[in-house]
Amino acid sequence: MHEDWYQVFAIPDYRYVTPQSTLDPKEKTERSRLFAPGFTLSYLLRSELQHDANIALLLDWMDKYAEAHEPMHLGKFFTYTEFDNAGEAIFSRSLGFIKAGHDVSGSVANSRSLNRYMGIAGYYVWLLRLVVANPLITSLGLLPMGHLFRTSMEALHQRKADPDSRFDMVAHWLRVYQEYPGLLSYRDVEAMTATTIAAGSDTLSCTPVSATAIVLRSPSRAPP
Ligand code: HEM
Repeated sequence: MHEDWYQVFAIPDYRYVTPQSTLDPKEKTERSRLFAPGFTLSYLLRSELQHDANIALLLDWMDKYAEAHEPMHLGKFFTYTEFDNAGEAIFSRSLGFIKAGHDVSGSVANSRSLNRYMGIAGYYVWLLRLVVANPLITSLGLLPMGHLFRTSMEALHQRKADPDSRFDMVAHWLRVYQEYPGLLSYRDVEAMTATTIAAGSDTLSCTPVSATAIVLRSPSRAPP
């Protein structure tokens, strides 16, 4: 069945259930409802200053490359900015890409392989679980899914220890977990954190990449 494909969204393995990986429509809606408070606009806006700071760093890099008359890989820099912005919204911290101006620990390249891999692997879920997405293999953290998960869990861990964290997405989810432990497990929160980093970063970096590509091809479409 094609809908089985969605089970690939249990990252890094089948124990980490997310709304996207839940096949039963009623159960999926219930799960989504528990996580929905994290996406409230008024709370997301609390990270606006940090998003502005990341965009300022992006503009600084653009200035540096322009002054040096060197070509800049805009797509990569947009991705660094969006990974960091997603991190700020989810767990009050940037992952450090745009400040460093490069792919720290190869995480972005890793995410690209993860996308390719997920596109295909979902059609062979039984094989995926047998060979890759099982606790034995993922605990080694060698595969793309394990890497994304490990990076997200490190950030989640730091966030929990930091009293200066904002009331971010994770704060909402931890509150639901504390109030309704029977409905949401801590592992569910970990799973949602990892998939939301993936869901938020790639989608958001596609937007400026596409907009820039369109404007470069037909400058008349640029906003006034
Ligand atoms: C241009 C930007 C975006 C596009 C086009 C987009 C697209 C989508 C689509 C089509 C779905 C539904 C998938 C399905 O059920 O088959 C979805 C779900 C989701 N997206 Fe996005 N998305 C974007 C940005 C984001 C961002 C910024 C985040 C988080 C920071 C995010 C997190 C999620 C999550 C958590 C779900 C699952 C929600 C649930 O089922 O309860 N997305 N997105």
